[in-house]
Amino acid sequence: MPKKTASKTEYMCSQCGFDSPKWFGRCPSCGEYNTVSEMKVGPEKETRAWSSPSTHRPMKLSEVPAQGDPRFPSGMEEIDRVLGGGIVPGSLVLIGGDPGIGKSTLLLQAADQVARTGKRVLYVSGEESTDQIRLRAERMGVALDGIWLLTETDLDNVLHSMGEMKPDLAVMDSIQTLYAPDLPAAPGSVGQLRECGLRLMRRAKESGCAVFLIGHVTKEGEVAGPRVLEHLVDAVLYLEGERSQGLRILRGAKNRFGSTQEIGLFEMRAKGLMELNDPARAFLLDLDVSHPGSAVVAPLTGTRPVLVEVQALTCKTAFAMPQRVATGFDQRRLSVILAVLERRAGIGVSGSDLFVSTAGGFALDDPGADLGVALAVASSARNVALPARTLAIGEIGLSGDLRRALDPERRIREAARLGFERAFVPKVSVGDLPTPAPLKIVAVSTLREALDLAGLVVSRDA
Ligand SMILES: Nc1ncnc2c1ncn2[C@@H]1O[C@H](COP(=O)(O)OP(=O)(O)OP(=O)(O)O)[C@@H](O)[C@H]1O
Ligand SMILES: [Mg+2]
Repeated sequence: MPKKTASKTEYMCSQCGFDSPKWFGRCPSCGEYNTVSEMKVGPEKETRAWSSPSTHRPMKLSEVPAQGDPRFPSGMEEIDRVLGGGIVPGSLVLIGGDPGIGKSTLLLQAADQVARTGKRVLYVSGEESTDQIRLRAERMGVALDGIWLLTETDLDNVLHSMGEMKPDLAVMDSIQTLYAPDLPAAPGSVGQLRECGLRLMRRAKESGCAVFLIGHVTKEGEVAGPRVLEHLVDAVLYLEGERSQGLRILRGAKNRFGSTQEIGLFEMRAKGLMELNDPARAFLLDLDVSHPGSAVVAPLTGTRPVLVEVQALTCKTAFAMPQRVATGFDQRRLSVILAVLERRAGIGVSGSDLFVSTAGGFALDDPGADLGVALAVASSARNVALPARTLAIGEIGLSGDLRRALDPERRIREAARLGFERAFVPKVSVGDLPTPAPLKIVAVSTLREALDLAGLVVSRDA
């Protein structure tokens, strides 16, 4: 294996992790400016993340011993779903999120659940004192005997403890506080982050211990953030949510063991993060009340749909350039929908400020939500509420036609389960869709037709 024989300086892009022996002003890989940071590479640096004897010669896949599915549950269904069905031994998982969002809480809870199944769990904290962690654990009702706690920032000591204790699960809170003492760079620097990540990866693969790294994200996702680790680890999860509200969403950004479409939903309570029993309902307000500007959509998140309320508010502008503010929805997609509304359905909002937001800040990236957003905007512009318990499914084409959204059947079944009575569905996908009671399907082929049937009368001059 090639080894570097002398310490030298390398340069790395903190945005994408690209490294180079030469300094660069603009990253040749991602094109960002001023993202270069310097790191000292020690003589011990290996070019491979971890070594395994079986990889010294090429072998057929059939020669690789079959292992079955070795996953073990985290004890929290919402985490298991996002991971693709449980924790994979020997995996390295990075969990990022804004300060104070609940990363330590979530992992302490998962650690507790895993420890309760008889597995050995090590929780390494470089940020909080043992007293602080004990206080949190007591508040959350964690079994204090189950988890081994280590307050340490020196990676050598952490690896030593892991070697002695042989845990099944180890949590590093956080990767930014760890440092490899043989590297001159400061903890949290790009060089340290990558080297600590590599060494933990090697240890995870060799020992079979699943390692969870907590990472801080700065607004720009830069140096202090976990981006440089994203290529290295097996899975990257983000814990998101509006801090003022209790709702938290765990989302996969990368997963070598499962889909990244799945989300986990929690609510922050005094006793920690509660898994939501009925996540489909989490982003709905009162089902029976409908206000002008409000519509309900059913974006698919992995294996299950979630019903989300979208709200729009139009208001006469006081500026030459009307404002367009979208929270949880892509601004460019909104511009397209506004253009189609104006040209194909005669509902123009060019003289108004427009605010669009989703309940709980849910990020709507499913095109099947287009129709709902258009109905919400039209409803606000006309100041007419849509009928209550109405769902809108459909992607909007530039000609105002409604296109098939992926898997309408599952969306409809979920809406019916929650008591929805009506669903606008593109005619092309009605086919042999079921009509689970109490839901009735309203087939529509264009946006204009949907607006008409929703009682948002379309002007004749369109
Ligand atoms: N007694 C309490 N009751 C309810 N919620 C609490 C209580 N104490 C703390 N919290 C919640 O826990 C959050 C802090 O959680 P936690 O420390 O797990 O976050 P974190 O993401 O690890 O933060 P950091 O980035 O600072 O490490 C607080 O923002 C608060 O919402
Ligand atoms: Mg924390």
